[in-house]
Formats: sequence, structure tokens, C-alpha cells
Amino acid sequence: MSETARIILEGQEYEFPVLTGSENEKAIDISKLRGTTGYITLDPGFKNTGSTQSGITYLDGENGVLRYRGYSIEELAEKASFMEVAYLLIYGELPNKEQLDYFNDSITHHTLVHENMKRFFEAFPLGAHPMGMLSSMVASLSTFYPESQNPNRDITDIEKTMHRLIAKMPTLAAQAYKHNTGLPTMYPKNDLSYVGNFMHMMWGVPSEDYKVDPVIESALNKLFILHADHEQNCSTSTVRVVGSSQANLYSSVSAGIAALWGPLHGGANQAVIEMLEAIRAEGTPLQSWIDRAKDKTDSFRLMGFGHRVYKNFDPRARIIKKAADDVLAQLGVNDPVLDIAKQLEEVALNDEYFVQRGLYPNVDFYSGIIYRALGIPTDMFTVMFALGRLPGWIGQWKEMTENREPIGRPRQVYTGATQRAFVALNDRA
Ligand code: ACO
Repeated sequence: MSETARIILEGQEYEFPVLTGSENEKAIDISKLRGTTGYITLDPGFKNTGSTQSGITYLDGENGVLRYRGYSIEELAEKASFMEVAYLLIYGELPNKEQLDYFNDSITHHTLVHENMKRFFEAFPLGAHPMGMLSSMVASLSTFYPESQNPNRDITDIEKTMHRLIAKMPTLAAQAYKHNTGLPTMYPKNDLSYVGNFMHMMWGVPSEDYKVDPVIESALNKLFILHADHEQNCSTSTVRVVGSSQANLYSSVSAGIAALWGPLHGGANQAVIEMLEAIRAEGTPLQSWIDRAKDKTDSFRLMGFGHRVYKNFDPRARIIKKAADDVLAQLGVNDPVLDIAKQLEEVALNDEYFVQRGLYPNVDFYSGIIYRALGIPTDMFTVMFALGRLPGWIGQWKEMTENREPIGRPRQVYTGATQRAFVALNDRA
């Protein structure tokens, strides 16, 4: 017999179906709640609300498990290329050799952006935040490819749009970086890997033949994979909600980039380094920062600690921590900020406040340290996150579109004024 949930409201009992996911996650299906009872549920921040049934990413926050399409994040980070993972997230299976060759080829041949976009970049002030530039540029891609705006969503148009976006994001990200450094823009090189080409556009200059360092290439490949999807997080939910209005993929992902920018989400990697720099500059004991983070009258939080779903440990943080140690050793980088990070981690992990609340270092705590070691400026960190997250956003948008999900439109409990008569200006107090 299938399980049901019973809710008693005003003395009357109602039954609602219980759904069980493939990993035994349980949910009460309240989609008919309002129609049947007149009630809605209230759940600020959607802490207990499932917005969809998805077959892309499985996450068990209590046990620190993360899998893409059934494959463990540990195995994918160790053995796969970012393009294989992108294909897996978008199409549901790992590609065979032929499929991967076709995918790589298609991506490689869409890496150029329209020359007019250079003029957009020229108009940004020097020092413009790269996330602001990236979000605007990705939205503007829709104006160059109007077929993406077709709400009927022809499969060939969608395919091309997905490939174009994956191909052009690194070009736009590198252009944002070049804009702020004043260095000339580098055109993509088709004989390089996806990550290698991005490195060439970031750090190459026209007068030199840029050599891709395999240590950096491998570290970035791993970081992109670790960031590639994370089920219904803030930016992904944004992409799905915007896409649910049948907005085109470029605009939906542009909105996702904006959501990712915030310091409570992807922007935390920038905030972590800024916090560690401030600790170093001030030279005050670490304990005073911990005390501030615990003080409810102080808005300061330990950036890079805590997670909405991981209350035990963040499996990505474990992998990145090791990768950070490896990269720093291989590149011979000795970073005093890393020492502060390690000390802070130790103090926090032994503090009752953090232990009780399950506040562990998250993915952003260590990723910033690697990016810094690779010579990426702090304001580009969240752009790196966005490059990694892109296949996840696309896969989730595609799933939402294929499932013909309804437009995302939450309800509310209204707490404002009840009806009152309009008061003429001269009669107002
Ligand atoms: N420092 C100090 N206290 C914290 C921190 C922190 N970093 N994070 C949570 N807490 C405390 C809260 O004050 C709260 O305490 P209380 O129960 O006494 O009121 C308790 O821990 C639970 O925190 P919430 O804010 O309710 O947890 P929520 O799930 O809403 O927030 C979040 C999760 C936003 C990640 C939070 O932990 C945070 O702000 N962390 C710092 C920013 C950060 O690193 N963000 C990146 C997350 S990873 C990602 O998005 C890729």
C-alpha cells in the first residue's frame, strides 16, 4: 500500500501522497493542498521545500555524499575531464568516444564571440566587477542569436544555444579579465582543451606562444568538475525559475550568474580571501574573529564556513583541500594566507559553537586559495565558479524545459494593511 500523509485542519482530515525518490528521499506531495484545503505552506528560504523531481544530482548533506547522474564526485574529479562531466550533466550519460569528439568539436567551433561585443566591454569602467560584466554579456548573447528566444524551443536551436553558451563563456570571462588588466584580448585557440584554451585567453599575450602548464590545467579541470552542479541551490533555482517563464537560456543563465555573485553563495570564495587578508593585515588573534562570528549582535560571519545542506562535511571541500596542498607544493607557492586559513579551520572545528551547528569549511574556503596560487585576481574567483557551474545550470534548464514544468510562482502570507480608502494629498497627516 502506498504511503500517505494525513493533515488535520480545522478538525477535518486530508490525505496527501508521499513520494519516494530513487535514493529513498521522502516528500509529501502538497501540489493539491490549496485547492483541497485553502491553505498554503510557509517555508522561508525553501529549507524544507522540494521544487522539482530531478534526475541530475544526488546530494546527502548528512553523510557528505554528492553524485552526478549516479557517479560519485570523488571518482569524477579523479578520472573525468570537465567536458565529459558537462556532457553527463546535460545529456544524462557519459559520452562514448564518438559522442565526446562531436561535443568537443562543436564547442571548439563556437568559441568566438561577435566582434561588436568588444564595444560593450570597452564601455565598462576600468575595475568593473567581472561578475557584472559576465552576467550582462551572457544576457546580451540572446540579442545576437534571436533563434534562442523562440518559446517553442526547437530541439536544434536548443542544442546550438547550449553549445554556444558553453563555448563562449570562457571567452567572455577572459575578456572581462583582460578589460581590467588593460591587456589585449586573445582569440581562442582551437587545438587546446576547453580548460587550456581558457588559460590561453586569460594569460596569453599576442607576442608570445603561451604554453599551457599541465599542473594548472589539471587543477582547473578538477575545480570545474567539483563546481559543475549542486542540485537546487540558489543560482540553479534562479535559472529554473527564470527559464520556467520560457525566457531563453542565455537570459536564464545570466540571472543564475547574478544569483551566484552574492557572498552567501558563490561570492563566498572572494569573501574568504578578503577575510583572510583582513585577518593578516590587522594581526589580531584568531580567537577575536571567532568570537565576532559567534556574536549575534555582530553581522560578521566566518566566510567559507557552513552550508545549507552539508551539516557534516562538504565532500567537495575535502577534495579541494587536498588539491590546494598539491597545487601549492607543485607550484612552489608559500602563501601566508594559507597558514591563516589552516589555523582558522582548526580553531573553528574545535569550537563548540561551530561543532554544534555543523559549520564546516565549504567548497569556497579552499577554492579561493587555489585560485590565488594560480594568479587569478580575487574578483575573478566567482567567475571561475560560474564557468564550472555552467553545465549544471544548462542541464537543469533542459530538464525543466523537457518536463514542461509550470511557471515558478510561489505564494505568500500577506501581512500588510487591510483594505482602506484612498486619502487625498492635502488630507494626509
Ligand atoms: N559564521 C558564524 N555563524 C554561522 C555561519 C558562519 N559562517 N553560518 C551559519 N552560522 C550560524 C547562524 O548564525 C545560525 O546560528 P543560530 O542557530 O544560533 O541562529 C546557524 O549557524 C545556522 O545558520 P543559518 O544562517 O540559519 O543557515 P543557512 O542554511 O540559512 O545558511 C549559509 C547557510 C548561508 C551558507 C551560512 O552558513 C553562511 O552565511 N555561511 C558563510 C557564507 C558562505 O561561506 N557561503 C558559501 C556557501 S557554499 C556555496 O554557496 C557554494
